[in-house]
Amino acid sequence: MKILVTAGPTREPIDPVRFISNRSSGKMGYALARIAVSRAHEVVLISGPVALTQPEGVQLIPVLTAEEILAAVRRHWDWCEALIMAAAVCDWRPIRVSPRKIKKTMMPAVLKLKPTPDILLALRSIKGGRIVVGFAAETDRIEQEARRKLQEKNLDLIVANDVGRSDAGFEVDTNQVTMIPAVGEVEHLSLMSKDAVAERILQWIEARYSSTKTCTKST
Ligand code: CTP
Repeated sequence: MKILVTAGPTREPIDPVRFISNRSSGKMGYALARIAVSRAHEVVLISGPVALTQPEGVQLIPVLTAEEILAAVRRHWDWCEALIMAAAVCDWRPIRVSPRKIKKTMMPAVLKLKPTPDILLALRSIKGGRIVVGFAAETDRIEQEARRKLQEKNLDLIVANDVGRSDAGFEVDTNQVTMIPAVGEVEHLSLMSKDAVAERILQWIEARYSSTKTCTKST
């Protein structure tokens, strides 16, 4: 399959030296890209700034902002058969970006923000036959919130994780996720390596892909 993976955080600039970002290390997205290649898929990895080495066999597209992820995803939309949105996209960005460094003594009393584009929402109407997988980073009402995002963003699968735990979610090598498909059984996975989680997600995508191919052939 041709799989587009997004990974890592975005950086939304305030001025040439400062930005808004989040704790994403990119480890889950990079594990997905690496494991997808090992399972013989073609992979384009759109990555925010991370301290990880480029997985072999992957076409890497470095980006910084939510706008840049959206533009890169759009450029690869016709090419891809599946999108895995593992990136932790910043939800807000400063209304004004100063072209010059704001001096310490000029501290803005208030930092005014505006929303960034929601990439999955922007693509929902042009989803076509692609398999789209999102992640839900939650601390409260995890399954309920994940289900809301699954529906709102018109996803085939959402992978929910509790980012309040110290052994799952941001920065660590392990994850504990619940896989909630739009159709089918919910799977609560135990705590495992991000590579093992990536294997499970890719197995799910492959099964889904072959079932849609079978349906298309038989109709
Ligand atoms: N996402 C996106 N565009 C954004 C924000 C998030 O496409 N601007 C994607 C993420 O990559 C993830 C899914 O949407 O696959 C859910 O992201 P999450 O941060 O859990 O939820 P939000 O939609 O940002 O909602 P909230 O912050 O209120 O939980």
